[in-house]
Amino acid sequence: MLYHENFRPKYHFSPKSHWMNDPNGLVYHKGTYHLYYQFYPDSTVWGPMHWGHATSDNLRDWKHQPIALEPDSLGYIFSGSAVIDHQNTSGFGTEENPPLVAMFTYHEPNGAQAKTNDYQYQGIAYSLDNGKTFTKYEGNPVVPNTEGFIDFRDPKVFWHEASQKWILILVAGDRALFYNSENLKDWNYLSEFGKDTGAHGGVWECPDLFPLKVAETGETKWVLLISINPGAPNSGSGTQYFVGEFDGEHFTTSQTEELWIDLGRDNYAGITYNNLPGEDRIFIGWMSNWEYGQQVPTEKWRSAMTLPRKLNLHNNNGYFLSNFPVAAITDQLEKQKPETIKEDGILHFKNPKLNQAEISFSLPSPVTDFEIMLSNDDGERLSISYNAAQNTYSLDRSLSGLTDFADSFAKPVMKAPARFTAGDSVPFSIFLDTSSIEFFADGGANALTAVFFPKKPYTHFQLKTDAPVSELSLTPIPSIWN
Ligand code: FRU
Repeated sequence: MLYHENFRPKYHFSPKSHWMNDPNGLVYHKGTYHLYYQFYPDSTVWGPMHWGHATSDNLRDWKHQPIALEPDSLGYIFSGSAVIDHQNTSGFGTEENPPLVAMFTYHEPNGAQAKTNDYQYQGIAYSLDNGKTFTKYEGNPVVPNTEGFIDFRDPKVFWHEASQKWILILVAGDRALFYNSENLKDWNYLSEFGKDTGAHGGVWECPDLFPLKVAETGETKWVLLISINPGAPNSGSGTQYFVGEFDGEHFTTSQTEELWIDLGRDNYAGITYNNLPGEDRIFIGWMSNWEYGQQVPTEKWRSAMTLPRKLNLHNNNGYFLSNFPVAAITDQLEKQKPETIKEDGILHFKNPKLNQAEISFSLPSPVTDFEIMLSNDDGERLSISYNAAQNTYSLDRSLSGLTDFADSFAKPVMKAPARFTAGDSVPFSIFLDTSSIEFFADGGANALTAVFFPKKPYTHFQLKTDAPVSELSLTPIPSIWN
């Protein structure tokens, strides 16, 4: 496979061709990470949704697989999740060959057009060949839309050890609803969350719920992810989260502040892997935004996923998540020490491989003002800065390359209130891949992800700071597509 088209990412997952949006059904099974995704195989804009499929044994190299789920008489196949039914509670398989069960939303397009208020409902399908092919359950829908919610979708299912039940969380308008089940087919409504909490500037989508230990203390909290479109602080779609408790029936939180997993504009609808061994939580998001995702200037395919990221929970005057690419992305690679020059307080280096690499450096704590500028020989450039007085990061892509394909692309400048974990030295990392940048401050206590479309690759890095820069490195990242 060549993957040499303009703007094609080299070490991020993107479909061979055509339209992709949300990651779906992230599940680990028998040594394989499955990545299903919202896919329309007939066009580069959104349309009748299928589940595309890719697999990996390391979260770095991906293999394309045949389409896993296609629309049928009940509707298009919208977003959802997948579990391994180890005890064969569903009866779809055996304990020796436990079924992989996917739960998704059916979206019935005629009902949607007629505004019947009953065109989204939940279905399941099972696979007995390790996620390759699926059989849809004949009793679908398993969660009908009896209340007539206009938006009623994106089921996330997981096994809840304490209550020995399956838990389902889905979204209805701007609320999250919780259900439980003993067999993945019969679901009991439990509770609702969201009335007085969080951002409500749009529809809630793609929920996720999982326990995570606070890195510093080992205390376990529950984290609820909720994507929202529109209504993100930097415009368009974005993913907020809540840190609280889940008792098997209700999610509660005392959080009053709005928290966002990534304040770049291009990380949406992200969810985490089910069935991972150990306690890691690994997240993948769609690296785009509904404001302009269908207009970005790629030709053969549209959009890529974020790098898979490990989530960590912290408490430093309040709980917050950090997220950082999994070690597999760079751990086999050689870190280079770039040759730099310093002129007028600005550190520079040039490198032809800059645009497909991780660049990292550290600054002493407390961090003072700095500005990173990435650019090409045509003067196209993208900047990330930190303003200590405002304690805020900014990412500006207004001069980064092509921007006029959509009015809402160049602006606003993305802003993120800074958060720090404790420590004397603060690490920064930038992952550049042709047409995307993922910026991680302090190990991911702040993340900013943005796509951009330069006419020529970026080859020039500069860092303006009065502070001593340490541990500057460049790690070229090879293409994962051969
Ligand atoms: C989020 C979303 C989901 C829906 C899917 C449809 O991006 O709108 O709520 O299931 O995309 O493709």
